[in-house]
Amino acid sequence: DEIKSRFFHLQISLEMESPFKPEILKGKVALLTGGASGIGLEISTQFGKHGASIAIMGRRKTIVDSAVSSLQSLGIPAVGFAGDVRNQKDAKRVVESTIERYGKLDILVNAAAGNFLVSPEDLSPNGFRTVMDIDSVGTFTMCHEALNYLKKGAAGRSSDSGGIILNISATLHYTAAWYQIHVAAAKAAVDAITRNLALEWGTDYDIRVNGIAPGPISDTPGMRKLGPDEIKSKSREVMPLFKLGEKWDIAMAAIYLASDTGKYVNGTTLIVDGGLWLSRPRH
Ligand code: HXC
Repeated sequence: DEIKSRFFHLQISLEMESPFKPEILKGKVALLTGGASGIGLEISTQFGKHGASIAIMGRRKTIVDSAVSSLQSLGIPAVGFAGDVRNQKDAKRVVESTIERYGKLDILVNAAAGNFLVSPEDLSPNGFRTVMDIDSVGTFTMCHEALNYLKKGAAGRSSDSGGIILNISATLHYTAAWYQIHVAAAKAAVDAITRNLALEWGTDYDIRVNGIAPGPISDTPGMRKLGPDEIKSKSREVMPLFKLGEKWDIAMAAIYLASDTGKYVNGTTLIVDGGLWLSRPRH
């Protein structure tokens, strides 16, 4: 049994090794909202392991601090700033603090999100607005405040290319999702922001703007909130790959989009869900 379990761990760690060169993001500076937990923390960690310096923005200082310590313990340059993406002053302060610390900004990842399950009849307009404010307006606000530093030729940046924006979205608005009207509306807006900025800021400033739409990913706040038991039993029947995704899967997609491997990809939201959103029961 012990040998079996050792093999199992070996297999996991082999599977989890990155196929990218460890220096693929060398010298890059990345700022991640929601970067202290869940998918955001995994992207922070993998970006750091691939050479990037990391700045994390999150509402809860203790969680931000512990994420920063865990990155630093891996030898990753990391700094954390408490702030709420709903507050434009926080957004501005955090972007400016990142510049003060590292001298430039290359990659902005918008991973902060709000979520809870509620039927439309029980959802107050303020509850709807709250999730729109975090996911949609928050994403726009961060992009808006970061623009001057992401432009081609901005201070500290090499003059031959602009920066990168990555927006974490979802697939639930491609069809419809029970008890998620606020999140579906908010993520639809995020995808529109991704496309419109890709067009306008790609053209004017050489900034690439893309998104990632994760499916059900194990060990995340989203999965804990959205009923893991149901996903494991019912949804598995219609899940093409018959398994949940891992945070690692999203982080690898993020490295692809944020590095030169994705240099001609602009305005797309990459679905990383094992094919779940388009699946149907066999009969
Ligand atoms: C109904 C709720 C509610 C709930 C909040 N509200 N929680 N309504 N059911 N469970 C309503 C409140 O009643 C209020 O409206 C309004 O929302 C604001 O509530 P506050 O508590 O003041 O807001 P705030 O403290 O700012 O918190 C907002 C929050 C946020 C959205 C609850 O704290 C949050 O979600 N944190 C968790 C982050 C998280 O889980 N991230 C992972 C996301 S996963 P009224 O009218 O009463 O004033 C994800 C996956 C997406 O995004 C897709 C997966 C398929």
